[in-house]
Amino acid sequence: ANSIKIGLLGLGTVGSGVVKIIENHQDKLMHQVGCPVEVQKVLVKDLSKARGVDIPSEKLTTNVEDILHNPDVDVVIEVMGGIEHTRDYILTALRNKKHVVTANKDLMALYGSELLTVASESGCDLFYEASVAGGIPILRSLVEGLASDRITKMMGIVNGTTNFILTKMMNEGSAYEEVLKEAQDLGYAESDPTADVEGLDAARKMAILSTLGFSMKIDLDDVRVQGITNVTEEDLQYSKQLGYTMKLIGYAHRDGENVEVSVEPTLLANAHPLASVNDEYNAVYVYGEAVGETMFYGPGAGSLPTATAVVSDLVGVMKNMRLGVNGKSAVTPQYPKQLKEAKD
Ligand code: NAP
Ligand code: HSE
Repeated sequence: ANSIKIGLLGLGTVGSGVVKIIENHQDKLMHQVGCPVEVQKVLVKDLSKARGVDIPSEKLTTNVEDILHNPDVDVVIEVMGGIEHTRDYILTALRNKKHVVTANKDLMALYGSELLTVASESGCDLFYEASVAGGIPILRSLVEGLASDRITKMMGIVNGTTNFILTKMMNEGSAYEEVLKEAQDLGYAESDPTADVEGLDAARKMAILSTLGFSMKIDLDDVRVQGITNVTEEDLQYSKQLGYTMKLIGYAHRDGENVEVSVEPTLLANAHPLASVNDEYNAVYVYGEAVGETMFYGPGAGSLPTATAVVSDLVGVMKNMRLGVNGKSAVTPQYPKQLKEAKD
């Protein structure tokens, strides 16, 4: 092809970051993959909305068929969110031999196994680095960088919104509602922030992380979840006086076939490295039997950090296209056993 053509589903916080990176880093992309990258068509809900990016109006559509059945589109980038209809769109894209990159943890935590199977059957890549910890390349680190090791434990802060809220409440005495609104305005929160504050977003990410880290399918139902909605300003001020910091911590531990995964507000001694991970930043500790302790840190939410992960996945797809090895995706986890079966 003279250029790689993208069909973008969604032009909100992440989608506009994707457009900016494709435009502003075209030289880097050309250098990596040897041809230009072009946004061909963009699905939105509201055509009249003002966009903070330079996209000709004829490229916008409200008809998803313009992308899923468009013979010119090579890669579909899904950054619109949602579960059931989005699953249908991605299945259609894959069956139409289009590679897919998604930032959607809601979808991957629930239907990842099915979607990855269909991708493999279709000879397509399905990459989802941005679904966990925004700009931190944690999924590739687990399945490539630490591929030779046996991971036994992961612990971290994997939701930017709640970390932002807890940081501001604790360090600046801000009120919960006010900081939640700020996190929404900054584009960190989900369109419905309930999943953030009730811990479900972090639980979805822990399910994805532990599926990849432990090479064992971990369902969302297997994750014990408690969010931050019951944490009061008084709780935070008392913890501070006692030398502790409250964080929403995701924890995953494997001992043979037994796996425990949880998300809950946790008091950390101020000297603990995760205690100084502030604002929308995320960090994940990964313990491997051979490597020992590693820690990954970076922005966990927001337009350009998340879009970096999305466009880097796109580079991975394009490199595979050039090599003709799509369908053997580097971040495809193995699903050797269902956790429930393993427990029986
Ligand atoms: P957002 O700002 O709400 O943008 C969503 C975009 O998708 C909007 O452009 C919207 O169109 C479009 N859209 C949504 N539903 C649609 C439908 N049914 N038909 C057509 N267009 C539709 O969301 P976002 O923050 O960019 O998040 C997108 C995805 O990335 C989500 O899965 C989210 O969980 C994930 N993610 C987000 C972040 C982050 O920091 N924000 C980080 C990692 C992953 P309109 O603009 O016309 O309304
Ligand atoms: N709402 C999510 C968060 C976006 O706050 O972490 C990144 O996945």
